[in-house]
Amino acid sequence: MDQRLLQLIRRMQLLHHQMRARGMPLVGRLNVCRCRLYPPDAQTNVTRSILSRVGRGLHQQPAHPLGIMAGFIREYFGARYAYHDAISPIVSPAANFESLCFPADHPGRSRSDSYYLNRDWMLRTHTSAHQAELIRGGNDRFLLTADVYRRDEIDRTHYPVFHQVEGVCLFPQHAVEAPSTPATAASPANACDTNPRQPCYRREDSMAVEEHLKASLEGMVRHLFARAASHSVDGAAHTSSEVQMRWVDAYFPFTSPSYELEVWYNEQWMEILGCGVINHSILERAGRPDAIGWAFGIGLERLAMALFRIPDIRLFWSEDARFLGQFSPAKVTHFRPFSPYPSCTKDISFWLPPATTAPFHPNDLFELVRDMAGDLVEDVKLVDQFVHPKTGRESHCYRIMYRSMDRNVTNEEINDIQARVREHAPKRLQVELR
Ligand code: PHE
Repeated sequence: MDQRLLQLIRRMQLLHHQMRARGMPLVGRLNVCRCRLYPPDAQTNVTRSILSRVGRGLHQQPAHPLGIMAGFIREYFGARYAYHDAISPIVSPAANFESLCFPADHPGRSRSDSYYLNRDWMLRTHTSAHQAELIRGGNDRFLLTADVYRRDEIDRTHYPVFHQVEGVCLFPQHAVEAPSTPATAASPANACDTNPRQPCYRREDSMAVEEHLKASLEGMVRHLFARAASHSVDGAAHTSSEVQMRWVDAYFPFTSPSYELEVWYNEQWMEILGCGVINHSILERAGRPDAIGWAFGIGLERLAMALFRIPDIRLFWSEDARFLGQFSPAKVTHFRPFSPYPSCTKDISFWLPPATTAPFHPNDLFELVRDMAGDLVEDVKLVDQFVHPKTGRESHCYRIMYRSMDRNVTNEEINDIQARVREHAPKRLQVELR
């Protein structure tokens, strides 16, 4: 094990201590005092680059697309649902798998699919890892937003760290609430042989939970699309009532029956969440044998990519102000691409024309720069301005940022453009270069 990896693991422990000090819940029975370090062993496969993502808290940032999405979901479910968003990603395999009835030979458990700190600790592969613990802690209705970790393929929509919101809602058996509005999306023939209801429940109780689940999640998706439509520039494109959804049968070891919800988006069905009626054995072991309820898990990245029109999943991790500066809390705005190539900055200073001649307008300078630079100019800003105490003349300094959208620009090329801007400025703008 290399030293820097060890250092990172230590840093993560520190993070645990800090989270605890700030009163954040540490679910998963992580005893930081006892377990001073996560000693690596033959199971260890976390990497430095993965560990460096731990604690970034993208979903906790109110002006980050992932934080905005989480905020909309929280807003939809309202105050009846307890909200958790700071639970440590380090869990035991027992929490991530066994507590959820995963069989011992499930492929998700393998080192090729999951990240292990060692044989006893891993990075959660889904937010469901905290279901049992939170239910045991007395949470009847809750949402949990968190970062999750999976070894996976590499492309524009897959990244080894992503974010999910888990939702759970329990009722006393025989007293399942009816939803305020019924579910309407097309459903498969319910609870067939391959997707059965649990025999320990009364049929009408299970059916009522399925109905509450479907109505709640359809409502959530409508809410998300409505929020996106009300703020986006071309908001009229799809209003909430136009979201087309359908339910498909699914399988999860911890729910039955299980479903996925798909949304018609960009001319195809997009799967956005998994859900189902929680296995009674989970509730029993969590001290709630009296209860029946549903759970869902929704991935935030795919939906945020669609609603904010973000073309590459890696952008969520960008610390570039040109990315982060595009978003504001509780608003869906369409991402405007920016160039990955380096910029080149040049200043130009001049005395404004005397008041007797035509007044100077910055737009004339901007137009001159566009004429000379074409699309190589990204930004022109006034950075300094003063009035000479004796002559009364006013001086402006503008900073011109040059950058190409599709290639590296050379210094000579930019010097050349800047020279032509300087050459034409006196005549076209009636200014005197300094
Ligand atoms: N945890 C599942 C996943 O990550 C989603 C899920 C959550 C399914 C809750 C059912 C109930 O794919």
